[in-house]
Amino acid sequence: MQYSLLLSCICIPHAVPLQPKRIWTSSKFNNEKRSADRLICNNIRGHCTRVPRNVNMEKLQSGYLFPEICMREFEHSQKHPHAKLIRLGIGDTTEPIPDIITSAMVEHARALSTVEGYKGYGAEQGNMALRMAIALRFYRGVGVKGNEVFVSDGAQNASGIERVSGCTGSIFSGNSSPFFQESLPAYIDSSIIVGQAGKPQDETGKYENIVYMKCGPENNFFPDLSTTSRTDIIFFCSPNNPTGYAASRQQLQQLVEFAKANGSIIIYDSAYASYISDDSPRSIYEIPGAKEVAIEVSSFSKFAGFTGVRLGWTVVPEELLYMNRYPVIKDYNRIVCTCFNGASSVAQAGGLACLSREGFRALSAVIDYYKGNAEIIGGAFASLGMKVYGGKNAPYLWVHFPGMSSWDVFGEMLDKAHILTVPGRGFGPGGEEFVRVSAFGHRESILEASRRLKNLYK
Ligand SMILES: Cc1ncc(COP(=O)(O)O)c(C=O)c1O
Repeated sequence: MQYSLLLSCICIPHAVPLQPKRIWTSSKFNNEKRSADRLICNNIRGHCTRVPRNVNMEKLQSGYLFPEICMREFEHSQKHPHAKLIRLGIGDTTEPIPDIITSAMVEHARALSTVEGYKGYGAEQGNMALRMAIALRFYRGVGVKGNEVFVSDGAQNASGIERVSGCTGSIFSGNSSPFFQESLPAYIDSSIIVGQAGKPQDETGKYENIVYMKCGPENNFFPDLSTTSRTDIIFFCSPNNPTGYAASRQQLQQLVEFAKANGSIIIYDSAYASYISDDSPRSIYEIPGAKEVAIEVSSFSKFAGFTGVRLGWTVVPEELLYMNRYPVIKDYNRIVCTCFNGASSVAQAGGLACLSREGFRALSAVIDYYKGNAEIIGGAFASLGMKVYGGKNAPYLWVHFPGMSSWDVFGEMLDKAHILTVPGRGFGPGGEEFVRVSAFGHRESILEASRRLKNLYK
């Protein structure tokens, strides 16, 4: 198939022929963004171009998990217009950003209105001061340098996971077959979009070419690597979303050894590292040799309440090489410079404030608040005799409902207690029988949710 590109010619919105009926659902993050919408094209009218649809898009199954949950929430609100819904589903932060951080952003924004303070584009890779501050704050003692840190507008967006996935599709040539824990749907969906997955299998919902690793309580949330096939790319998230489990040093050592022995690259997501309370590693680079086999993606979203502000980073170590000895960082830099014009300078000013001594201290208090929530809601489930995992090193609880469908449990909590959670099945086939409960919320909602759960399951 040949694609021809008309540079300098871009599609403009009124050229789009479809006028779909738009059904508004409640949003992924807040009311204002009620645009996790489903577009229903009943009577599609318009002009068919000769542009074929990307076949990989056709492989995607039934939409992204969170829009599906939003739709259920919307239906629930229609059915129970007066119910006070408690949202412990989509893991969005709820507490205000400490003033020291927003003040830095305000100051930066105000300066943009002055001749002296105005700044336009920054470096695509991020401000060097911020890159250095990230290296110092999160990677002190493990040898990550500022130039190996690439600042992005979040871990998931076009610059973090998606970009790394884009890289795995576009710069790691060859037969890539990602390996996944039960984890963030974005890993799988972005791998499908860039063409790394084969066909979906109807019976299991799994994709060909993807090696799924079940990481549950029965194996201490870590796969048996002795029976695991080799893949080019290994996605690994710790502390894990959804299970809330942080991998131990010994487990990560095994993972690094496995990647080294197989010549694989680990894409390590540490978005929740700041929630770790015990001595579990906060970065894959705490494991000797990891810089030769791992890229780390991380975020200010859950560390600093920047889910709306948008800021994240990716570490690509200089030591990481392709099979032909070419440094991966050079291609990563090339892709960043091609696809991204840099994170917002206002957000980066906020990011620097987060990493200052006072900013970091203020954020630790917010994180402790969420961890307090996790203890309360986890305690409620435990008092009902349920098995609850996570919560200590992450803002998520992974609650077991043996023998039950996770969508049924999700529906029951929504219908009978007006509590929104996430069905474990949405994170992969191994998530069946579990629901993920988020600890992000105001304390009074968490206390109220605990009361309702105790009533529902007493
Ligand atoms: C494990 C994990 N990684 C990445 C992200 C996305 O983070 P960001 O908001 O920086 O895009 C999330 C969001 O929930 C997440 O749970």
